[in-house]
Amino acid sequence: MKQILIIFLAIAVVSCNNSNSKEQTNKNMSSETNYGTFDGKEIKQYTISNAAGMEVSIINYGGTVTKIITPDKNGKKGDVVLGYDTLSGYLQTGNPYLGSLIGRYGNRIANGKFTLDGKEYSLATNNNGQSLHGGNKGYDKVVWDAKKLPGDSSLELTYASKDGEEGYPGNLSVKVVYTVTTDNALKIEYDATTDKATPVNLTNHCYFNLSAGADSTILDHELELNASKFTEVNDVLIPTGKLPDVKNTPMDFTSSKRIGKDIDSVKGGYDHNWVINKNGTTLEKVASLYHPASGRLMEVFTTEPGIQFYSGNFLDGSLKYTKNGQKYVVHAGLCLETQHFPDGPNQPSFPNTILKPGEKYHQTSLYKFSVK
Ligand code: GLA
Repeated sequence: MKQILIIFLAIAVVSCNNSNSKEQTNKNMSSETNYGTFDGKEIKQYTISNAAGMEVSIINYGGTVTKIITPDKNGKKGDVVLGYDTLSGYLQTGNPYLGSLIGRYGNRIANGKFTLDGKEYSLATNNNGQSLHGGNKGYDKVVWDAKKLPGDSSLELTYASKDGEEGYPGNLSVKVVYTVTTDNALKIEYDATTDKATPVNLTNHCYFNLSAGADSTILDHELELNASKFTEVNDVLIPTGKLPDVKNTPMDFTSSKRIGKDIDSVKGGYDHNWVINKNGTTLEKVASLYHPASGRLMEVFTTEPGIQFYSGNFLDGSLKYTKNGQKYVVHAGLCLETQHFPDGPNQPSFPNTILKPGEKYHQTSLYKFSVK
């Protein structure tokens, strides 16, 4: 009996070791996992990380950021972006672009129309008669080719957008590289070239909540924007062309302010493009977001002239397959979309958004995490 018991224990120890080593192997391989299929193509989730332990996961459907794991002030790690547990979440009708790449033109183009070299182009009007975030099937709803770059910290995504896709002229070759830097930033580099003149405005649509699931809204987060003007909009969120001063208005984030402080005096909540105080196109700090309870700080750097601060106004708790079944209620997360201005192709006074053959589109944005 004693012998049998010893043999049984020995088997148990061996199999336990085995399963440990399996787990270990899985863990090492977890940097690339199957996530389902879409349009007959394999969807995978890739995890990139740095030595400090910051981890970002991305799927090749929509080039979507599914997780950003960073520590709070006590070293406890948490996921600071909204998302879903499975691909079904990202595929559901009405998924409000959680974590996705956005293109060919981020934000709105009035009446889905613009004229280039004397020719009028018509885009899908998918938002109150306007074209939003690239139309019905923007870059958030296509499968990108993904390639992990040497080291474990960068993922390269490419997409060949066809001439006429969603109404846009020209074959556009797009490349996006996500990198987790050694100093805990998620860096996003966007490049594109075209064979016909076309509007281009690429961005990412992560919804941040630095409480990592502890707070149901972002109203207690504090935001600072290096911007003294914003692009005023009409009731369908198309710029009027005016750039009002933010000073002493609810739009003023020139010094750090609790988001909930003035939000009720902004009709519908914040969903505007701030004009960044910069002249050049170098990478500069444009925003800081701080969550006092967790101590998490996120600083945003960009080469772009504008930033859309969207306070998650249309979230209403109805999304399915959300992470851990959390209800994404109004203001559950916020977006800081670095970009050129909305409706750029129709507003000659705004920075140029037309890319021509032979030119190179390039933008870099960085979301840097720390605690204080
Ligand atoms: C952008 C827009 C918002 C809204 C969200 C998605 O940020 O500016 O108005 O459409 O996308 O819900």
